Amino acid sequence: MSTEFLKVEGLAKTYPGAREPVFDGVNFAVEQGEFVCIIGHSGCGKTTILNVLAGLESASAGHVFMDRREVAGPSLERGVVFQGHALMPWLSVRSNIAFAVRSKWPGWSRAQVDEHVQRYVDLVGLGAAIDKKPSALSGGMKQRVGIARAFAIQPRMLLLDEPFGALDALTRGTIQDELLRICAETHQTVFMITHDVDEAILLADRILLMSNGPQARVAEIVRNTMPRTRTRATLHHDPQYYRIRNHLVDFLVARSSELSHGRAPLQPPEVRPGLAEPEPEPTPTGEGSPVVPLRRVA
Ligand SMILES: Nc1ncnc2c1ncn2[C@@H]1O[C@H](COP(=O)(O)OP(=O)(O)OP(=O)(O)O)[C@@H](O)[C@H]1O
Ligand SMILES: [Mg+2]
Repeated sequence: MSTEFLKVEGLAKTYPGAREPVFDGVNFAVEQGEFVCIIGHSGCGKTTILNVLAGLESASAGHVFMDRREVAGPSLERGVVFQGHALMPWLSVRSNIAFAVRSKWPGWSRAQVDEHVQRYVDLVGLGAAIDKKPSALSGGMKQRVGIARAFAIQPRMLLLDEPFGALDALTRGTIQDELLRICAETHQTVFMITHDVDEAILLADRILLMSNGPQARVAEIVRNTMPRTRTRATLHHDPQYYRIRNHLVDFLVARSSELSHGRAPLQPPEVRPGLAEPEPEPTPTGEGSPVVPLRRVA
């Protein structure tokens, strides 16, 4: 039985006045409880895709279904962390998050809302800044408010647009660990844009590789074959890590541009670069092939 939760079919976007689509023929699906990252060069259309998934922007062609229903507008079932933090500047941290919480649970008492908000503010380490306005916060702190706000409404799907981009390495690590913990606990379904290949390998079950525009596509899907118990501290001890990392970097350096202008396949193949092929049997002359082909599935 398919557990497809989010399904994207033939998605395309041409901005008014543009001659060619930014992307077209974008096809992929996300299963319930799955963590999917998307990687691709700046301008290939990642944020546009995320906005269409959120129901904030319309596509020029194609469809998005969540739980078999077509996405036709924004919903509190999908929590978004924007690339810019998108906070209301006249409201404190507390009120920014409380506003979203009250929209989701209009019947809650003030005490219930307060307690819930406090929990998520503590989660991102902003307890001391809860009554400050966004203008009094650093970029990384604002981003953390956005993260707390998205988590606080406990959406069925989290859509994250480079949510850790403005954070220092230490805070970033702490929040990545926290995100992994929450996802393991709640089976949260996540679609996340990142430029950081290590972050993608740590967090994602599958990594969507997007070719360059115009006519960008999801060109290939990398299955993360490392155990889900991976942590930041142990990741680099697993030989799979280097194979997956090299594969992602090779795509970004060379293949993403070769596959622009609609040269990527419409149905992206799934690959498992982490798994090495078994050592070839030595031939009678003692020569084995040193070239390890990628294992392709689907
Ligand atoms: N409102 C708009 N009007 C016209 N063109 C737009 C608009 N928004 C985005 N674009 C163009 O569409 C393309 C994709 O933009 P998008 O923001 O989705 O890229 P991205 O992959 O998220 O890039 P980055 O990694 O830099 O965030 C870009 O070439 C951009 O200039
Ligand atoms: Mg973007």
